[in-house]
Amino acid sequence: MESFRKTLFLFVLCSLPSKINAILQSPPSPFPCQRFSPIYAFGDSITDTGNQVRAFPALTMAWRPPYGQTYFGRPTGRYSDGRLMLDFLTTALNEGLIPPHFAHPAPDGSENFAVGGATALDTQNLSTIANVTAPTSIYLDLQISYFNGDTSCAKLSDALVYFGMIGVNDYVLTFLAQRPASVVERLINPVARTISTALSNIISHGVKHIVVQGQFPIGCVYVLTNALRGSKTDRNGCIESANLISHEHNRRLKNAVSAIARKHTDVNIVFFDTSAAYFHILENAQLFGFSKLHEPCYTGILHLFAGVSFNASLGAEACSNPQNYVSWDGIHLTDGMYHALMKLFLTDPRFVSPSSNFLSSCTHI
Ligand SMILES: *[C@@H]1O[C@H](CO)[C@@H](O)[C@H](O)[C@H]1NC(C)=O
Ligand SMILES: *[C@@H]1O[C@H](CO)[C@@H](O)[C@H](O)[C@H]1NC(C)=O
Ligand SMILES: *[C@@H]1O[C@H](CO)[C@@H](O)[C@H](O)[C@H]1NC(C)=O
Repeated sequence: MESFRKTLFLFVLCSLPSKINAILQSPPSPFPCQRFSPIYAFGDSITDTGNQVRAFPALTMAWRPPYGQTYFGRPTGRYSDGRLMLDFLTTALNEGLIPPHFAHPAPDGSENFAVGGATALDTQNLSTIANVTAPTSIYLDLQISYFNGDTSCAKLSDALVYFGMIGVNDYVLTFLAQRPASVVERLINPVARTISTALSNIISHGVKHIVVQGQFPIGCVYVLTNALRGSKTDRNGCIESANLISHEHNRRLKNAVSAIARKHTDVNIVFFDTSAAYFHILENAQLFGFSKLHEPCYTGILHLFAGVSFNASLGAEACSNPQNYVSWDGIHLTDGMYHALMKLFLTDPRFVSPSSNFLSSCTHI
């Protein structure tokens, strides 16, 4: 009886808004391809479109100039001079920008759960394995629980989930805390397991379209290259031991995506090998218009990492030609680099797996 009442209650609760939605439904879009709606995203600062500034304002650099200067003309909470990969993807799909979870949701319910500083592992496990503490208390499972809470009544068969980079912070924080590489390696298994579990979870809620993003080669991230100076570098000038970590992380993730694709033949899932695309750009830099491959255009945030308290006039000047830089602030990438990466994802089959990208025919980038 109790469970029947609960079912009835849920039915009433869920059916009412969907009836209203049906009445309010907009006419079909003139876009010739399938519409993906709503769109959800998960991840860290590589994907955060304004959650960290709302949830943790004291922590945020991305709320100050020169962040946002190239594209938006003002800071938006994005850790870049302009748009992120997610922004390039959703505008290429003709769906506009996805608002952060901690702001007002989009009319179709689209929202972005990614938070700058987020880790894949929860605070306890990260501390147990690596003895490090993340700057924000928001980890992947928490983002998934926000998603489950907000979508309990949503129809998800036309939804698109962009599973942005996650786990970089787990590894980089551990490296920066000067733990040995063996400790960083110990994180890969639990991180990969956490991501696989999260993917299974969203699929069990009816999601049919998923993009899973691999990591950049973290040994090419300036803040780490700088911290591990003196370590063995590869031909691109990146730290080899750190790149082995992201390489192994990506290999696990790629295998997990293949396994999901085999198991759920009704799910379109595609893995983006971000590291391979990143190296392709470094090795063909001129073709992509980049002349500065490592040093950042803006150095303000690096002072924080060096333990200097923030001083608005300290390194507040960005370079005058961010379009020629891969790195925006020594951790995050420029609008130009994010555009180049997303374009490779959507147009070059060499960087996706397990099969062709279901989004390619429907995007203009
Ligand atoms: C964890 O790190 C702190 C300093 O960051 C150190 O004082 C402590 O001894 C470490 N604990 C273990 C179990 O290694
Ligand atoms: C986190 O720690 C708990 C308790 O020790 C454990 O049961 C769980 O499997 C861990 N999660 C991961 C992803 O390793
Ligand atoms: C901020 O940094 C600038 C440049 O180093 C220095 O001249 C100034 O005194 C600093 N201001 C404060 C309040 O520390």
